[in-house]
Amino acid sequence: GNIQVGLFVGSLRKESFNKKIANYLISIAPKGYEYQLIEIGQLPFYNEDLEGDKLPAVYKEFRATIEALDAFIFVTPEYNRSVPAVLKNAIDVASRPYGKAKWNKKPAAVISSSIGAIGGFGANHHLRQSLVFVDVPTMAQPEAYIGHVAKLFDEQGKLINEDTAKFLEDYLAAFSTWVERFVKK
Ligand code: FNR
Repeated sequence: GNIQVGLFVGSLRKESFNKKIANYLISIAPKGYEYQLIEIGQLPFYNEDLEGDKLPAVYKEFRATIEALDAFIFVTPEYNRSVPAVLKNAIDVASRPYGKAKWNKKPAAVISSSIGAIGGFGANHHLRQSLVFVDVPTMAQPEAYIGHVAKLFDEQGKLINEDTAKFLEDYLAAFSTWVERFVKK
């Protein structure tokens, strides 16, 4: 079957540039892969008191979703030089209960973007810090820090920058090579 890749976007807003990048990636998913956007905005803040009888259905569903995926792509903005809380929360939710983390050993990539020049570098690397702990082997190269993201899309949300399109295509080719080191299907 196809290799199942979940895409996580660290922004909830409708017109999110990061969501536009994720949707573009989905539109160019390599052959043999199924890319899908995974919702994270429905998850209540992680609270260990909810484990057990009171476990929210959305936690259960989310953990099952993560378990069924083979690989992950995180596409995130930077909030105050770090990872948006909603994305950190999603990682936390599927990292518990202790010993039953769903992220384990599945390959990933991190793409950050920003309306500014630095391209979300701080968020990109803070996210990698958490991914080390949940044992997610994250592609080192190529790195993806997409700056001035607002200039890359038209009013309809279409990617209009050819260099970025080529970069993302090459990025996914490298990611497939990375994934196939871990996933045999
Ligand atoms: C930002 N933004 C931002 N940009 C940046 O480059 N570094 C930063 O530390 C921050 N901090 C920050 C905090 C908060 C709370 C918000 C809402 C925004 C700006 C950010 O790059 C911009 O809003 C992007 O458009 C957010 O990504 P989406 O929502 O378009 O995907």
